[in-house]
Amino acid sequence: MKALVLAGGSGTRLRPFSYSMPKQLIPIANTPVLEYVLRNILDLGVREIGVVVGDRAPEIQGTIGDGSRFGARLTYIRQEAPLGLAHTVAIARDFLGDDDFVMYLGDNMLPEGITQVAEEFAAHRPAAHVVVHKVADPRAFGVAELGPGGEVLRLVEKPEQPRSDLALIGVYFFTAAIHEAVRAIEPSARGELEITDAVQWLVAAGADVRAGRYEGYWKDTGNVEDVLECNQHVLSGLRHSVAGEVDGASELAGPVVVEAGARIVRSRVEGPVIIGAGTVVEDSHIGPHTSVGRACAITGSRLGYSIALDGASVTGVQGLRSSVIGRSASVGTTGQSTDPYRLVVGDHTRVEVAA
Ligand code: DAU
Repeated sequence: MKALVLAGGSGTRLRPFSYSMPKQLIPIANTPVLEYVLRNILDLGVREIGVVVGDRAPEIQGTIGDGSRFGARLTYIRQEAPLGLAHTVAIARDFLGDDDFVMYLGDNMLPEGITQVAEEFAAHRPAAHVVVHKVADPRAFGVAELGPGGEVLRLVEKPEQPRSDLALIGVYFFTAAIHEAVRAIEPSARGELEITDAVQWLVAAGADVRAGRYEGYWKDTGNVEDVLECNQHVLSGLRHSVAGEVDGASELAGPVVVEAGARIVRSRVEGPVIIGAGTVVEDSHIGPHTSVGRACAITGSRLGYSIALDGASVTGVQGLRSSVIGRSASVGTTGQSTDPYRLVVGDHTRVEVAA
C-alpha cells in the first residue's frame, strides 16, 4: 500500500493567506494541516508517500522535507497546473505502479485518523472505497447516492441539486483499477479531471465500489470559517503543558500550552489555548479556542476564538474574535477612539469593524 497526498491546487477560497503560503500549511493548533495528514497515513503503516505539489513546491518541501522526520519516504510529484484530482493520479502513475493506494486531500482534517477506513477497504478490497459524511449543504462537495444496502449508485461532483446529503470526504482507497478510469474520463465543466467522475466511471462499468460512513470529526479546511472551527475542535483535545514562563501576575485557566521560550506577563489565558515558542503575551486576555503562533507579540489586547500566525502582533486591541491574523501582520490602534481607522490591507483581505 502506498499513499498519494494532494498538496497542489490554488486555494482561492483561503485568500489572502494562500497568496503567501500553500493552504495545506495553514496551522491548526500551531501544526500545519499537511502534518496531520502525513501522521494519519503513517498510522496505517504506510511509508511510501507521493506528495503532489504545484507552484508552491518550495514551501511545502521546506516544511515537510524528505519525510525522514516522520519516518516516511516522500516522493514529490510536480503538477504543472491544478488540472484536477484525477489528473494527479495520472501524473503519479510511475510512482504508484500497480499498488493499492490511499489518496488523501492535503487540506482535509480527520483528527481521529483513518485506520477504520483502511480496515474497511482491506476487508473487501473493492476497486474503490470512498468515504462519506452527512453535511448540511452538500453542493460544495462530491455527493454520493447509496442504495439500501449501502452500495454506491451514483457519484456527482458539486451538484446544484444534490440527491443526497452524503458528501465525499477527501480520503479514497483504490486498487490499480482506478488508472483505466482516470484515462477514460473527460474534463468536467470547470475544466478539471474529477476523481468523482473516475469513480463514477467504475460504478457504471460494474466494478465493486463501496462507501463507508465516517462518523468522526471531518473538516475540509478550504475557507477561513472552517479553519477556525477546526482549530476549535483540535484545541478542545489539548493537554495542559507549560514549558515557557508565566509570571506571578498571570493566570492560566483550563488547558493551556505555553511552548518553550514563550512568556506570559500580567495576563489571563483561558484555555484551550496554545501559545507558540518565543511569543510574548503582555497585559492581555487570550482565549478560549485561540492559537498564537511562534514569535508573536500580543500586548494590551483581548483575543478569543482566533488564530495568529507566526510573527503576528496585536497591540491595544480589545475584543478580537473569529479572526485570523497572517504571518508578521500587525493589528494595532491609533490615537483616540474617535479617530478614523487606518488600514493597510492586501488583496482579498477582509476587515470587519463595529458599525
Ligand atoms: O474536501 C472534499 C472534497 O474535495 C470532495 O467532496 C470533492 O468531491 C473533491 O473534488 C474535493 O473538492 P474541492 O473543491 O474541495 O477540492 P480542492 O480543489 O480544494 O482540492 C483538494 C486538494 O487537492 C487540495 O489540497 C488541493 C489539491 N489539488 C487540487 C487540484 C484541483 C491538487 O493537488 N491538484 C489539483 O489539480
